Amino acid sequence: MRIIRAKNYEEMSRKAAAIIAAQVVSKPDCVLGLATGGTPVGTYKNLVEWYNNGDVDFSAVTSVNLDEYRSLPREHPESYWSFMHRNLFDHVNIDPARINLPDGNNMDAAAECARYDAVIEAVGGVDLQLLGIGHDGHIGFNEPSDAFDLGTHCVDLTEETIEANKRFFASRDEVPRQAYTMGTRTIMHARKVLMIVSGKDKAEIVKKAFFGPVTPQVPASILQMHKDFVLVADEDALSLI
Ligand code: PGA
Repeated sequence: MRIIRAKNYEEMSRKAAAIIAAQVVSKPDCVLGLATGGTPVGTYKNLVEWYNNGDVDFSAVTSVNLDEYRSLPREHPESYWSFMHRNLFDHVNIDPARINLPDGNNMDAAAECARYDAVIEAVGGVDLQLLGIGHDGHIGFNEPSDAFDLGTHCVDLTEETIEANKRFFASRDEVPRQAYTMGTRTIMHARKVLMIVSGKDKAEIVKKAFFGPVTPQVPASILQMHKDFVLVADEDALSLI
């Protein structure tokens, strides 16, 4: 595990974007595992800027996103499909045929999870997986539980996650209650894992996940065992370690 300290959110975003850009420059046809949420917005902004400057070319990149709400229409502004297009895909030259997300509108959970695992396998696995961390230690929507989930699966969002995500919706009631998420095994099989964390409110969970025991009660803690795990965090997020 390597920790890269950033002064603030902007610097965290630039450093994370630099690591992703380096991945794309060194392997133009790489597979990027991408994440949504508040934290990656600045990272994507930097990548779009560098694409506009001619420094990064996404034309051969394949993307696989971590997760998607179940039953939210794809075109809903808060679907992860919409988020990714708004923040990254619409602004760079990624080939739409190489963009992959779980299909939240396929209500056959077993079929959709199997399809998504097959997609990830068919593209050869993930070269670089970008992650945020939830206040409860979740990665993707792998929530605290008694065992690490392995492949793509359907989850019930915890009360804490519903609470955290309601800021994106008109009301708490509108937050979907389920999601499809890549499993912990797939994340651990990524050749490189890059986590970005910002803010004092994440300091406690950063300490717990990376300086405490490895346990499925804190899903991110398993990343301590990944052979190429980079944590890019700002001073606030690192303030308790
Ligand atoms: P956030 O979410 O970036 O919106 O804080 C992180 C996460 O829940 O994984």
